[in-house]
Amino acid sequence: DDPAADPFAIAKEAAAQLAAATGVVKHDIALTLGSGWAKAADLLGETVATVPATDIVGFSQPAVVGHVGTIRSIRLPDGRHALVLGARTHYYEGHGVRRVVHSVRTAAAAGASVMVLTNGAGGIKEHWTPGTPVLISDHINLTANSPLEGATFIDLTDLYSRRLRDIARSVQPDLDEGVYTQFRGPHYETPAEVQMAKAIGGHIVGMSTALEAIAAREAGMEVLGFSLITNLAAGISPDALSHAEVLQAGKDAEPVISDLLARVVAEL
Ligand code: 6GU
Repeated sequence: DDPAADPFAIAKEAAAQLAAATGVVKHDIALTLGSGWAKAADLLGETVATVPATDIVGFSQPAVVGHVGTIRSIRLPDGRHALVLGARTHYYEGHGVRRVVHSVRTAAAAGASVMVLTNGAGGIKEHWTPGTPVLISDHINLTANSPLEGATFIDLTDLYSRRLRDIARSVQPDLDEGVYTQFRGPHYETPAEVQMAKAIGGHIVGMSTALEAIAAREAGMEVLGFSLITNLAAGISPDALSHAEVLQAGKDAEPVISDLLARVVAEL
């Protein structure tokens, strides 16, 4: 949080601590598992080590019930190593954007060249029933913030890698795609805000991922993103939203989307 501190140096230190704690010097791929996606870790491969996130510099205990605070090192069946980050810091927690993207920068410092970002989110398309997984094709960042500091004018074309999206669709050809809109939260949007998101080209509303994807691109990683639609966004469905229902929808969908994610990761 010290403005004079170098966030990349802290990420490097965190990566060194993870290497020591897991015995794995280089991780090839990293995954952030959001609401509904946590069980995927069990299907990816063999867990080499589970580290409490708070043992690693720069990570804080998640503020939200239902989010997990561990980092796991997993050996995939083909021998690659995956770093599973179950400790997301959300922008709405108010710790600043450096904290939000610290896990992504740590993954990059740990050697990962692919960053898989997942979340639970609201759907704007009426036919997306709760439990539908959607491939993120692009994003709209409505946080009015950026993880980049100074004159870092990076290109965000194909931020959500076309190559990786093609692989995901080869695993599940009927996978829907959509534009993810990151709001600050933690309140859900008003129906009018959801209509705004729709009017400017958004299909999914959520409170994570976009800032992390930008940091991943800055770090030179390829990004793959998935949203689990846990509910229709406000005003799209006549029902009111509840966090408990969002978590429940995530739980119900967990076996199916975890299987999907494990099959996609095997092909990356
Ligand atoms: Cl409707 N909005 C946002 N911002 N995040 C969500 C959501 C809605 N449903 C689940 N997560």
